Amino acid sequence: MKAKILVTGGLGFIGSHTVVALLEQDYDVVIIDNLSNSSIEVLGGITKITGRTPEFENFDLRNKEQVIEFFDKYPEINGVIHFAASKAVGESVENPLLYYENNLSTLIHLLKQLSKKQDANFIFSSSCTVYGQADTLPISEDAPVKKAMSPYGNTKQIGEEIIEDTCKVHPNLKAISLRYFNPVGAHPSAEIGELPIGTPQNLIPFLTQTAIGKREQLSVFGDDYPTSDGTCIRDYIHVMDLAQAHIIALERLMQNKAENNYNVFNLGTGKGNSVLEVIKTFENSTGVDLPYKIVGRREGDITAAYADTGKANSVLNWKAKYTLDDALKSAWKWENKVKEKETQE
Ligand code: WQD
Repeated sequence: MKAKILVTGGLGFIGSHTVVALLEQDYDVVIIDNLSNSSIEVLGGITKITGRTPEFENFDLRNKEQVIEFFDKYPEINGVIHFAASKAVGESVENPLLYYENNLSTLIHLLKQLSKKQDANFIFSSSCTVYGQADTLPISEDAPVKKAMSPYGNTKQIGEEIIEDTCKVHPNLKAISLRYFNPVGAHPSAEIGELPIGTPQNLIPFLTQTAIGKREQLSVFGDDYPTSDGTCIRDYIHVMDLAQAHIIALERLMQNKAENNYNVFNLGTGKGNSVLEVIKTFENSTGVDLPYKIVGRREGDITAAYADTGKANSVLNWKAKYTLDDALKSAWKWENKVKEKETQE
């Protein structure tokens, strides 16, 4: 058995897929999750896939005392993958203090404990949103970080700075920030996937809920952008590829392969697809016609973003394997599984 890894937000979308990959690669896992944006049923899905059940601590990382107690209970843990955070762009605009408190105080509580250790390895869930609308495409890690378009994006920028500054004074703390582009898809077993609470803000869950009849029509937010078909372009990366990248990044730190103790990597496919291309790909791969209508632009959307994946490819020796078609097929299989479960209840 390899080391015991803490995964915060491990019952969430990307977190649960990463926990599955860790368990399948013989790691022990402890999850901390306050279930504010996930369900305890995800733990059952993880067990079904892997035949193993990770330890689960149900508390809020905003509670400093409980974070201290956790590391007293698990003194052997020195590898942490930190997903737990609020992540809805629109909600962050309406409730900025919720986002600054939840996304930053939790990070600080974790770093305070890790920086006391002789050897600590920390993977941070960041986002391409830190680039805003980049001046050049594809976007590389040395593209300028721009003024965030939302408090959510700002918490990712500030979070990266907090980690970088902490690593400067704690050489024993090694960290990597992973800037995701657009995470999509689901585990091929359809035992776990994206579980948006309420009306999905993101394209793919709204698209699959429309396809299955839960939503009447998909609204395409604008077709007057300066792109080939007028709709926005994004780099949709399969959650399975994302999960594997987290393990590779953590192992790079735990095996002391990193030449410096803080680094940043983009996680994308390097390919951009427009909203209309996503719809077309979905229809072709599932045979399901998708009802949609073009409406006005959504506040805060950027025209295009897709990753320069060169650094992750060469330094992490990681490359996305799954295609958009794979991701859409898996998301559709997952949506059908969710409906099946709902009809059984
Ligand atoms: C994608 C495209 C929309 C919904 C955000 C965050 C990012 C990450 C992923 C957390 C855009 C269009 C969407 C719909 C649409 N968050 N769209 N109709 O905004 O690129 O990224 O979510 O990890 O940090 O910034 O993702 O899926 O919301 O939108 O036309 O009903 O789909 O305009 O062009 P986004 P998204």
